[in-house]
Amino acid sequence: MDNSPNPTQRPSFLEEQNSVSVVNSRMGNDVSPRMRRVMSAVVKHLHELTIEVEPTHDEWKQAIEFLTEVGHTCTDWRQEFILLSDVLGVSMLVETINSRRPSGATENTVLGPFYVPEAPRYPNGSNICLDGKGGPLVVRGRVTDLDGKPIPGALVDVWQTNDDGFYDVQQKGVQPDWNLRGVFTAEEDGSYWYRSTKPRFYPIPDDGPVGKLLEKLGRHPNRAAHIHFIVSAPGYDPVITHIFTDDCQYLYEDAVFGVRESLIANFKTISDAAEEAEVGLAGVDFARPYHFVETDFVLTKRADIDL
Ligand code: BEZ
Ligand code: FE
Repeated sequence: MDNSPNPTQRPSFLEEQNSVSVVNSRMGNDVSPRMRRVMSAVVKHLHELTIEVEPTHDEWKQAIEFLTEVGHTCTDWRQEFILLSDVLGVSMLVETINSRRPSGATENTVLGPFYVPEAPRYPNGSNICLDGKGGPLVVRGRVTDLDGKPIPGALVDVWQTNDDGFYDVQQKGVQPDWNLRGVFTAEEDGSYWYRSTKPRFYPIPDDGPVGKLLEKLGRHPNRAAHIHFIVSAPGYDPVITHIFTDDCQYLYEDAVFGVRESLIANFKTISDAAEEAEVGLAGVDFARPYHFVETDFVLTKRADIDL
């Protein structure tokens, strides 16, 4: 007697024409709906990609070797897979999808690998540039809600590279610890201010496989000059963001696609007492000329986001 399944009911073997459904139909019945949705899409797009580019065996081997090298480059302090996601624009896309804030709220951008929690808390007006390098800068602004109401006590956590283009954690023993990092607290009127140095562009870590990929793609590794911020207050959704200098040559070709129009800030130069008075910085006691940027942060309550 022939025990093989009825040809009209039996599962199909994998062919070019049916590969997606053959693989996805193997999933068990107890798989969670979200897992089913995500993995079905992963299989679908991987198969479509494979069919589209028709990789040779050698190209497939190269792809596997590249991913293996990305994995081997990861350490406790370096995450090459995140860097790969960054340069392919996926990190920024995830940020964008997960931050559909109401209009008027400060937009977010990538966190990056150089955030260090628990930076020193400073009084407003302090200078976080501990190595004295670069063009002096005053940063000032207010933290408010969507109605413009100040949020006193909001924390403004900032970090940036020094004038050589490195974060302190990339140059331990070269830069002072906590150079160009600090946490400021908004005053009763929501205002905060501090002194620093004007940021400059710098390359993302490009000595690994992601750097080699960028080179093969004819891309540079530079990030547009920026300052990082995390602004938070109880009851509000914290915002992870940057401001970018408006005169940076890499504004339109940031290596990780982190620039948004609303995050480009106008950096002025204050050269004399009249200009100082005009922007309300008379008596700031900072050697002129210095740079000045004003940047406000608008936070949303959880309810504002869930609407
Ligand atoms: C950064 O801005 O610190 C950064 C972001 C993404 C990748 C590398 C560095
Ligand atoms: Fe950065």
